[in-house]
Amino acid sequence: MTAIPLPYDDLLLSEGTALNPYSTFAKLRAYDPVYWHAPTTSWYVTSYDLVATMLRERSLSACPGDYVGDQQPEDLPAVKAMEKFFNSWMVFSDPPNQTKLRESVTSAFTRRVADSWSGYAREIAVKEFARLGSGEIDLADLSLRIASRFTCAVLGVPEEDDEQVRLWSNELIACLSTPKLNADRARVGVRAIEQLGTYLDTRVLPRIRKPVDDRLLPLKGMADLDHDMALALFTQLLTGGIDPVASSLTTALERLLSSDHQDWTRMASSPELTDKAVEEALRFDAPFHFVPRTTTESIQIGDHTLSEGSRVVLVIAAANRDPLAYQSPDEFIPSREGPSHLSFGLGRHYCLGAILARMVLREALQEASRWVQSSSPMYMSGERMPAFGVSTWKRLSILV
Ligand code: HEM
Repeated sequence: MTAIPLPYDDLLLSEGTALNPYSTFAKLRAYDPVYWHAPTTSWYVTSYDLVATMLRERSLSACPGDYVGDQQPEDLPAVKAMEKFFNSWMVFSDPPNQTKLRESVTSAFTRRVADSWSGYAREIAVKEFARLGSGEIDLADLSLRIASRFTCAVLGVPEEDDEQVRLWSNELIACLSTPKLNADRARVGVRAIEQLGTYLDTRVLPRIRKPVDDRLLPLKGMADLDHDMALALFTQLLTGGIDPVASSLTTALERLLSSDHQDWTRMASSPELTDKAVEEALRFDAPFHFVPRTTTESIQIGDHTLSEGSRVVLVIAAANRDPLAYQSPDEFIPSREGPSHLSFGLGRHYCLGAILARMVLREALQEASRWVQSSSPMYMSGERMPAFGVSTWKRLSILV
């Protein structure tokens, strides 16, 4: 490991990168696809081949390590509480905790269950597009409403609670989308966990134990877990479900509306083309940029030997734009052929919600194509939210 600062140490944490990370990722990859970044004491892996290989590498632990940095002693309890909480999530833990959580709800995320929800996903999309009206409209907000209503429904949250649940979910995400967790965010996070815990016990678990809807039956495994595990599962499904779906839907709408693609017309009559456009949106702008891992033994990655206990960030968003894997990787090509993107990960932690996410994105985009043909919207501007490691949209303005 070198003590000499490398050329892109500041760039990775800059405001420009927070707004649009792709040119930074390209620079890192060209300099060294396994880049040591001293400020975050982590190795950033950015080439498609290495990221795909390392996602399947079983000796890498998903536990991201500690969130405690140079906080004041009075701030430590909140930061440590958040650390303990996130380390109990399926996505940030190894077997047996990960396997136990995953197996408890696997049957709720099959293709058959996704098919049973597709009519509802269509209904939400039809309703949201129908109420858009005319004038200047924000489609990022529409995407969020669709993603949030759908994820909440799948998890047994009644519609009248969507807004509150989404607020709590945002407070947890704010603790994750930062290079180092600060105490103020952590305190808000701790409160959100408590409130979500009470909400889960009083509103959600009773609806799962005595299902108000047969489609909630496969979630029964969640109700059989102890309180802490059920809460870890519920909160991860919530945060893991709402924002990435909203992000990908906005990305697809933004790309398609900002160019004069004829694809809208073709998509309206072709579910296959819609599926391809969904995949391209997921590739073009992965909602989660990073998959964090820790080495449990010495390992060779590219030209580097990493010692046990090293932090590794598998940059799936960079891998998806690797020119060795994709032609013209920075172009959005809805009918693109090529290797599968890595936006859902690979291997042991492969996204549990991938089938559901693809289905809701397809239904929403199909409805969008019908609406575009009848409303002829005009693209105005798209604005992203500055964030570390995730793609989120502040606004997607169009004129109808
Ligand atoms: C476009 C939408 C989505 C994207 C891009 C996405 C992305 C990802 C990624 C990259 C991982 C793997 C992380 C790793 O390897 O450490 C993951 C895991 C996971 N995702 Fe998703 N996700 C999406 C939607 C959803 C939805 C809708 C749900 C459920 C409602 C969900 C639930 C999960 C769960 C539970 C895991 C953890 C799996 C494990 O650790 O075994 N995701 N997701």
